[in-house]
Amino acid sequence: MSLDALTDLEKQALAELAACADEAALRAWNTKYFGDKGLMKAALSKIGTIPKEQRAAYGQEANRVKVALTTASEAKQAQVKEAALAASLSANPLDVTLPGRPRPRGRLHPATQILRQVYAIFADMGFQVYRTREVETEQYNFEYLNMPEHHPARDMWDTFFTTTPGVVLRTHTSPGQIHVMRESAPNPVRVILPGMCYRYEAITPRSEIQFYQVEGLAIGEGITMADLKGTITAFAHRMFGPDRKVRIRSSYFPFTEPSIEVDIDWPKDDPNRDRLTKGTGWLEIMGAGMVHPTVLRHGGYDPDQVTGFAFGMGPQRMLMLQHAIDDIRLFWQNDLRFLRQF
Ligand code: PHE
Repeated sequence: MSLDALTDLEKQALAELAACADEAALRAWNTKYFGDKGLMKAALSKIGTIPKEQRAAYGQEANRVKVALTTASEAKQAQVKEAALAASLSANPLDVTLPGRPRPRGRLHPATQILRQVYAIFADMGFQVYRTREVETEQYNFEYLNMPEHHPARDMWDTFFTTTPGVVLRTHTSPGQIHVMRESAPNPVRVILPGMCYRYEAITPRSEIQFYQVEGLAIGEGITMADLKGTITAFAHRMFGPDRKVRIRSSYFPFTEPSIEVDIDWPKDDPNRDRLTKGTGWLEIMGAGMVHPTVLRHGGYDPDQVTGFAFGMGPQRMLMLQHAIDDIRLFWQNDLRFLRQF
């Protein structure tokens, strides 16, 4: 091979390169000249066969051609890419007038919303929010609340027992009363204790195996049943409006004496009224009463010095009353068609 042959090779390669219109053509060109059996490779490998006196000149020229072709092909490659991009942009033009895609916004679960309403109303009346545990000992869940072992009143709460003997999922928020009292005695307290409770019950439209409660507790000198009734009535009027009927009935709980239950009138025009209120028209939203002296003593107070009232309310039932929701099971089914309505 001579120097002329190298120059011809260069000319031919450059001409073919100029004719390449797309990446496929460029790849073929590359294989033809720079592939394992490519022409440029062949020209370079010939160096050894060139007579000594011409070898240096040939080698120099071969390398120059190689560099020239490489540079030219890189430039061409960039040019082809740019052309391809321009073509795709004009084929699928970007429509900047399209409206943006809104990001979906989350929201609070309805149970959380009603809890916050409850907190706000009691905050206005001077109650602090206090958190206690969901897993309790039988002592706190029953015994300190005036229900010793084998006391028949324990049957009022169908209980989930854990595999650790004596440890239960709390059936109500009332054991929290004892925790607060033991931390606060002998000082007065005015707190609410919200949280999840668990009962080993048949699931029905009115009852679930887990639900929220908000416990309330006020202890101090001279607190009476009138304070309890006033607090509950003020709360119910804020929650349901001043015209909603509230009914207070006498009841029984081992940890309060006397004990009451509070009902709210189910919306009159709702077709499910009878079914959800067992034909009475009323839905119970809380149990309450004056804290039993034995419970005060377990909490570290002297029942001769102080008295107190306590209540335990079901915030989900209040939401049912506000919106005539006919099935408490909807709360934990995670069905967005339900949740999005709040
Ligand atoms: N703990 C009771 C229940 O779950 C409600 C209650 C609380 C009653 C406080 C009286 C006082 O049924």
